Amino acid sequence: MSSLAIDVRDVKKTYGSGATAVPALRGVDFRVSTGEFVMLSGPSGSGKTTLLSILGCVLTASSGHVSLLGEDISRAKEKDLPRLRRSYIGFVFQTHNLIASLTAQENIGLLLTMRGFSHRSAATEATRLLHEVGLSDKVETKPGDLSGGQRQRVAIARAIAGSPPIILADEPTAALDAENGAKVTELLRTLAKEQGHTVVVVTHDNRIFHIADRIVHIEDGLIQENQS
Ligand SMILES: Nc1ncnc2c1ncn2[C@@H]1O[C@H](COP(=O)(O)OP(=O)(O)OP(=O)(O)O)[C@@H](O)[C@H]1O
Ligand SMILES: [Mg+2]
Repeated sequence: MSSLAIDVRDVKKTYGSGATAVPALRGVDFRVSTGEFVMLSGPSGSGKTTLLSILGCVLTASSGHVSLLGEDISRAKEKDLPRLRRSYIGFVFQTHNLIASLTAQENIGLLLTMRGFSHRSAATEATRLLHEVGLSDKVETKPGDLSGGQRQRVAIARAIAGSPPIILADEPTAALDAENGAKVTELLRTLAKEQGHTVVVVTHDNRIFHIADRIVHIEDGLIQENQS
């Protein structure tokens, strides 16, 4: 079995067609080993969210190859994407995307029931996950009564619910101050280092670059060469 969690080869993605076509990815090669903690950085419009969306089985590439844990997903049909996403991916968005009317525990529990947990075991597991991200005292709290950093930690707990092998985070610290941003990033790193998740974080925040195993730069739809 390959130890590559993510294997992207010559991926191109063009939005639209004809005169209005936008080439967002122009032949991207990107490989991430299992358990690696990688930061993806680049200017606005460089293709970060597009690449993450293709890895996250939200979008399909226009051409090229994408494998997740050895499974080639490049030929997947639109209708297969949700199943692939459930099998492989936990997603953390820039804004937390939590449901306002549900408690922290219910927000996570809802996702677990979609992943096949019974209601009772989903509640127990959601509570355990909240404990893991340091929010044992916020189980019954709704997002509106949490701080930005706490919300993002609930979102991370939700992303790791059901233990998907790959965690993708699109600027998870953008709305946070430096201290909370560092905490959230540390938490993501812990997931990679202690639990073997493979983690890719999009960030502009050079204050947290030092936490990464590797920083990959993307510019104008192409990964920049000579990455360490
Ligand atoms: N749904 C879409 N339809 C058409 N063009 C799009 C769409 N989404 C993104 N694009 C274009 O594709 C290019 C890459 O966008 P993308 O969102 O991947 O950039 P990004 O690196 O995530 O930028 P940011 O840092 O601002 O989030 C941009 O030129 C953008 O305008
Ligand atoms: Mg983006």
